[in-house]
Amino acid sequence: MSEPDFSGHIAVVTGGSRGIGAGIAMALARRGAQVVVNGRDTAAIARVTDAIRDQGGRSIGVAADVTDEDDLAQLRAQAEAAFGPVSLLVANAGGGGAPEPLTQMGAERWRGTLEANLTSAFLTLKTFLPTMMEARRGAIVTVASTAGRQASGASAAYAAAKSGLLSLTRQAATEAAPSGVRVNAIAPSSILTDRMATQPETVRQQIAQGFPLRRLGEVEDVAAAALFLLGPSSSWITGVTLDVAGGRVML
Ligand SMILES: NC(=O)c1ccc[n+]([C@@H]2O[C@H](COP(=O)([O-])OP(=O)(O)OC[C@H]3O[C@@H](n4cnc5c(N)ncnc54)[C@H](OP(=O)(O)O)[C@@H]3O)[C@@H](O)[C@H]2O)c1
Repeated sequence: MSEPDFSGHIAVVTGGSRGIGAGIAMALARRGAQVVVNGRDTAAIARVTDAIRDQGGRSIGVAADVTDEDDLAQLRAQAEAAFGPVSLLVANAGGGGAPEPLTQMGAERWRGTLEANLTSAFLTLKTFLPTMMEARRGAIVTVASTAGRQASGASAAYAAAKSGLLSLTRQAATEAAPSGVRVNAIAPSSILTDRMATQPETVRQQIAQGFPLRRLGEVEDVAAAALFLLGPSSSWITGVTLDVAGGRVML
């Protein structure tokens, strides 16, 4: 299968300043998209936009909190002002934090985790979908987790939020389908980001052995799945969850 060409596309990657999001932003830029990199930390955002420009791509960074509707409106306005209407969206921002038993979890952490992983994605879709549907052009990927697919060691809040995100993705796919805009989810498992790289080698080896394919995922594994779901090769695929999980989830 040939690599998709995203020339002429304008992409927004939430949480594009680090980890998986940064990998997806770089991969989209390498294939010609003009990429808007989001996060909250301006220095981290600048590292990714600089790297994209260094490799000859076009990119701007926009610091915005994706749990805030006004910030999201600003993100869209700045993307449109710099490049034009957004046609590719990666709703990736989020994260889990350390596992904690449900019986010990406070309501504040529960609400915060749902806000960061589920409400944020709802608000992101609500901000970008209308213009994409109106233009009858574009594709969206949400980044969930295998924690939302089956019980795991993750916290109840994170698992519930990511499970909810998969449902939200299907709902958005259904509502957007008549316009031709597609919405799909990626559910990664343990990915070798900077955070995972700080774990001792023995711990990483042990985690890797828990996967049928006997290795950790790479950011590039998730980016490849995102390129497929955003590109023309998946033009008859919407509302699905693609597990990028080394064979741990087979649904
Ligand atoms: N890494 C894994 O093994 C793994 C596995 C399954 C699923 N996932 C999911 O994949 C996604 C990316 O994970 P990652 O490991 O790459 O995370 P990461 O390295 O911690 O990066 C998270 C990114 O999201 C941004 N972010 C978080 N909350 C935000 C908010 N409210 N507004 C704007 N930006 C926000 C962060 O920016 P700032 O913090 O700088 O603001 C950062 O750019 C997450 O949704 C995570 O749940 C990851």
